[in-house]
Amino acid sequence: KVADLKGLKQGQLRLAVITTAKYFIPRLLGPFCELYPGIDISLQVTNHEQILERMSQNLDDLYIMSQIPDNMDVTCQPFLENPLIVFAPTNHPLAKEKNIPIQSLSNEPFIMREPGSGTRRAVQKLFEEQGVAVKVKLELGSNEAIKQAIAGGLGISVLSRHTLLSDSSEFSILDVQHFPIQRHWYMVYPSGKQLSIVARAYYEYLLAAAKNIVEQNSHTTSLPLNQLTGNS
Ligand code: PGA
Repeated sequence: KVADLKGLKQGQLRLAVITTAKYFIPRLLGPFCELYPGIDISLQVTNHEQILERMSQNLDDLYIMSQIPDNMDVTCQPFLENPLIVFAPTNHPLAKEKNIPIQSLSNEPFIMREPGSGTRRAVQKLFEEQGVAVKVKLELGSNEAIKQAIAGGLGISVLSRHTLLSDSSEFSILDVQHFPIQRHWYMVYPSGKQLSIVARAYYEYLLAAAKNIVEQNSHTTSLPLNQLTGNS
């Protein structure tokens, strides 16, 4: 069905995605563009707060996020898991322990994402629920910068598992109670909005691609999405 339409679709696709989706979405754009050479794409990568701001101004066709706004009427479709896990340097003393009580994190210098980040919000919510007061040693507006700071020994942090690439040997993932924080990536758009033909094609494409990945993952343990979950 999709192949029939090859070449017929033309126009612009404006995507805005949260920071963790940049580890996934650009790579999938290659095959999409091959399928639809007539489509030009713009991709904004930013945190949740900025995504919501863009959505309220109707700047993009489609959004990818993990925390659905409760004050906007949106249509949302989950397509992949986006769990948050505890990152520490490889040689961290807790790295060998199992089932670490979450309270132990209060003794660790913590590196936190910036206000407006959904990662930060999810982490703060869990810590609040569990009565954990971490010492925030450093606040950084980038997942990659946080990874570098962890590798450099500045502290530990909680980040999406998708931020782990071929650099996974530089980190240990701590087995802390209440982690991973289970979340999903969603495709989102304002409920009243009619998706363009191009946006609809992308929507279907991404759903199919994600489904493929989930199926592949159920047959093998070596794919990145399956790495280090420890509990799937
Ligand atoms: P953030 O979103 O950049 O707003 O933290 C990333 C995520 O929640 O996966």
